Amino acid sequence: MKHYSNISDLTNLQTTVQEAIALKKNPLKYKALGDGKTICLLFFNNSLRTRLSTQKAAQNLGLNAIVMNFGSEGWQLEYGDGTIMNQNKSEHVKEAAKVVSQYCDIVAIRAFASLDDKEKDEAELVINSFIKYASVPVVNMESSVGHPLQALADAITLEEHKVDHKPKVVLSWAPHPKALPHAVANSFIEMMQLQDADFVITHPEGYDLNPTIIKNSTVEYDQDKAFKNADFIYVKNWSSYNQYGQVVSKDENWQITGDKMKLTNNGKFMHCLPVRRNIIISDEVIDSENSLVIEQANNRTYSAQIVLKKILEKLD
Ligand code: CP
Repeated sequence: MKHYSNISDLTNLQTTVQEAIALKKNPLKYKALGDGKTICLLFFNNSLRTRLSTQKAAQNLGLNAIVMNFGSEGWQLEYGDGTIMNQNKSEHVKEAAKVVSQYCDIVAIRAFASLDDKEKDEAELVINSFIKYASVPVVNMESSVGHPLQALADAITLEEHKVDHKPKVVLSWAPHPKALPHAVANSFIEMMQLQDADFVITHPEGYDLNPTIIKNSTVEYDQDKAFKNADFIYVKNWSSYNQYGQVVSKDENWQITGDKMKLTNNGKFMHCLPVRRNIIISDEVIDSENSLVIEQANNRTYSAQIVLKKILEKLD
C-alpha cells in the first residue's frame, strides 16, 4: 500500500482487521520497523483522538512523529495552477508538499470539508495535492469526503463484539446544532459495504448522502423501523448533501435515547466522538454498558498502526 486515502486502499479489510487485533495484543512487536524514520502529522483542523492515537501508533512502530497545526501555524496554501498569488496565500502546495517530503518518510493530513462548495470538497484538494506533489506516502486523517482510519477502527470494534449470527448494523443520523461534514458517515458506509451484514442507513428525508457512496445500501426514513432487532447502532450527524452543507432539520425525535435502544436486539451503541450529550445521544445510552465509544477511540491506535506498518513495509 503506497497511500491510505480510502478504506478501499486496503487489499483485504477482514485480513487487516485480524492483523490489527493481533497488533493490539503485542503493540511493540514491530518497534524496529520505523527506526530512523519520521512521520509528519499535518492538522488543518482540530483533533483529539486522531492526533494522539496516530502519534501513539507511530511511536509503537519506532517512528519519530512531528506534529504541526498547519491550519493555524502554517502558511496559507494556494492550490490552483497558474494562479497569480497576489492575495492572501503565501505558499503553493507544489512547494509545500515537496518541502514536507524532505523532512519525513510518511505524511498524514487532516483537512475537513469547507461545506461551502461541493465541487471543491469532492475534489479533495488538500489530500490529493499532497498525493500529487509529495514524494512520500500520504495518509488520510480525515479529508473532505472520508475518514478511513476511523472506519477501520470501527471495523475492528465490530469484529471484537461480533454476534453469533449475521449482524444487523444501523447507521443513524441524529440532530446537531451545527453543520457537520459527511466524511465519517461516508467511510463507515464504504466499510460496511465490505462486510457480511444486514446494513441499514436511517435519516430524515433531506439528509440523503452521496448516491455514488450509498450505492445499493438500504436507506430507511423510519428510524424506529430501522432500529428493530439491530445489533449495532452507529450514530453520526451530517449536514444535507443535496442542499450542500445546510442544516435542514434538527428534529429532536432522532436523538438516541434509552427507549430507542429498547427497539434493538440489546444493541451496542457506537459513535466516533466527539459527541454532544443529550443532543445526539442521551446520557443513559452513552453511559450504558452497551456503549462502545471508548473502545472505538482505543482502536484508533491500532487502525493507524496497522496502516503505518503496511506503508513502512513497502518503503525502501
Ligand atoms: N473521531 C475523531 O476523528 O476524533 P478527533 O476529531 O478528535 O480526532
